[in-house]
Amino acid sequence: MSRFWIDKISGLKPYVPGEQPASDTLIKLNTNEHALPPADAVLAAVRDITSDQLRRYPDPTAERLRAAIATVESLSPEQVFMGNGSDEVLAHLWFAFLKGRRVQTLDTTYGFYPVWAGLYDADLTEVPVLEDFSVDVDALRDDDAAIVLANPNAPTGRALTRDDIALLVDSNSDRLVVVDEAYFGFGAETAVPLISDYDNLIVTRSLSKSHSLAGMRVGYAMAQPDLIEGLNRVKDSFNSYPLDAIAQAAATAAVADSQWLEQAAATVCEVRDRMTAGLRAMGFEVLPSQTNFVFTQHNTLPGKKIFNTLRERDILVRRWDRPRIENWLRISVGTLAQVEKLLEVVQEMVATESG
Ligand SMILES: Cc1ncc(COP(=O)(O)O)c(C=O)c1O
Repeated sequence: MSRFWIDKISGLKPYVPGEQPASDTLIKLNTNEHALPPADAVLAAVRDITSDQLRRYPDPTAERLRAAIATVESLSPEQVFMGNGSDEVLAHLWFAFLKGRRVQTLDTTYGFYPVWAGLYDADLTEVPVLEDFSVDVDALRDDDAAIVLANPNAPTGRALTRDDIALLVDSNSDRLVVVDEAYFGFGAETAVPLISDYDNLIVTRSLSKSHSLAGMRVGYAMAQPDLIEGLNRVKDSFNSYPLDAIAQAAATAAVADSQWLEQAAATVCEVRDRMTAGLRAMGFEVLPSQTNFVFTQHNTLPGKKIFNTLRERDILVRRWDRPRIENWLRISVGTLAQVEKLLEVVQEMVATESG
């Protein structure tokens, strides 16, 4: 606290990201990074960066990258907006379209949404998810506030279908529907094909999870050109060059390599199935996941105890001290070897506790 802070800063409750420990001996399953390294084409693109590309400012509009995304998604480049991670894209979006407005989201979802609502004075309603953590689409339909949904949702991993999203978008053409597809690629349906029919839909994506590029910070939004133009106005009033030259080159290579995307996701989904089956066999409830993590609780052992024991054994997972989910753990899908180690440690714990 300093006397120079404006009042607004004193009242902010910032988002707290998952721990990024310096030690690399830990099995890190707490921030949903991809288990596999990025595509070879991405590393080659980074190595091919020239000194001139570093000397000059990068392309402020990331034209090549937007064109590559547009091609893959059957959109035009004017329907794509790039940002420094999807967090930055979402922050611009809250400022451009949600500031001071009524917004609905879920009570169990991405913890950054209430932070942006606070930063930009939105009037946020958190609609409860149902007992099984699925989304109550009817409860969301019954309102005219804007909607912000992570789909698949985090930390639950559950996803709505494209038809569900269409119901929401179609329920009132004057309400903006934001679909955060940060966990795209691991089995859920995307809402992108609806964009051509609806000017009140905006879909955000991240290369952090699907493309194993969390260290690069690349995210994007897709919508009809008028919404994208609104985002560009905010971006160009904030930072004209959100994506550096290396990120643009790497991301362009990543997006073009759809074969890597499919194969890597298939591997993650296989390991996710192994992890789910292993946990269930030891008395865990595991929600069906369409992401690269699972949300789980044990039928007798408290979540906090499991979290602490795993931490002592150098395995990092994520847990929140929030009433509805305090007993639950979110565990990222690691490599098969990491997951086998996790299951081994959990097995010892369960045997000790019940023995
Ligand atoms: C639901 C959701 N949206 C957005 C993000 C932000 O992703 P990034 O800024 O890495 O693109 C995350 C990151 O964990 C997330 O879980």
